[in-house]
Amino acid sequence: MEKENKIKRIGILTSGGDAPGMNAAVRAVVRTAIGQGIECVGIRRGWNGLVFSDFVPLDSESVSHILAAGGTILYTARSEEFLTPEGRDKAVATCKMLGLDAVVAIGGDGTFRGALELSKLGVNVVGIPATIDNDVGCSHYTLGFDSACNTAVECIDKLRDTMQSHERCSVVEVMGRHAGYLALYVGLSVGATAVLIPERKVDFDKDVIERIRQSRMMGNTHFMIVVAEGAGSAHEIGQRIHDEIGMDPRVTILGHIQRGGSPTARDREMAARMGYKAVMSLVQGEGNCIVCTHDGHLVTKPIEKALAEKKHLPMDRYEVLEAMHAKNV
Ligand code: F6P
Repeated sequence: MEKENKIKRIGILTSGGDAPGMNAAVRAVVRTAIGQGIECVGIRRGWNGLVFSDFVPLDSESVSHILAAGGTILYTARSEEFLTPEGRDKAVATCKMLGLDAVVAIGGDGTFRGALELSKLGVNVVGIPATIDNDVGCSHYTLGFDSACNTAVECIDKLRDTMQSHERCSVVEVMGRHAGYLALYVGLSVGATAVLIPERKVDFDKDVIERIRQSRMMGNTHFMIVVAEGAGSAHEIGQRIHDEIGMDPRVTILGHIQRGGSPTARDREMAARMGYKAVMSLVQGEGNCIVCTHDGHLVTKPIEKALAEKKHLPMDRYEVLEAMHAKNV
């Protein structure tokens, strides 16, 4: 016999750095909830929305025409107040005032640390991983990663045209304060001469200078160095290349352009599945969990357990990168 659905009203919020696909996830949560007879309240500006009672009712029409939109209609913010016990007590009070049976929180690790604290105060929270860095340890994939990679690849392909014409070296900094997923995935996708990531200690002569020399010996006359912002400064790397081998690299920092844009099909499809899974887990009596991808399947993991999980960048991608620059024997 199906369990009776005890969830009658949920809050939804987006928190941390925004990511393409957040709106698609909000839409999926609202549409699934409505189908289950659940009312939805949009909590604006991340956890601050609960601290300061900043909310808006959401119905089916509220989430029309947002599927393909980047950013988040609920706004996002990093909440200092929520880090304090007083702020969290205010958040709990808002949940009670609104009669929320649960909150769906869309964001990254920081969002889920907040979710854990709120769950300890009796609020039922379900997390959906969304950050362009793809650095949430419990989930193989986070919403926004594929879109950000495609944005970066599109930009670097354009850079390659002019670097080729002028036979220059380009140093491109991509996002990823603590993680190199973006840099490695993009580096492989654009045929980078070298990729620098926070997870791998940089041996500048071996990892950059030698790579450029090898590429030059193979007859290449333009070079692409992709660096994650957490692995170093693109400007400093450009200067060192100039000082050591006399090139005059051009430096490009892609910055926040990687956070915008319409989500790719992969992010839209994944957002729909994650939003659906989040609501259905609540309907089936589950809660205080994070919706995670594991080998392409969706699973839910208790928040505390999920936060303790670590994932490691597949370093074998470096072997693939090197193989792309194999010298003629
Ligand atoms: O969302 C993750 C991220 O984009 C990181 O890659 C980046 O370092 C950081 O957010 C930038 O944060 P902010 O938008 O607050 O400057």
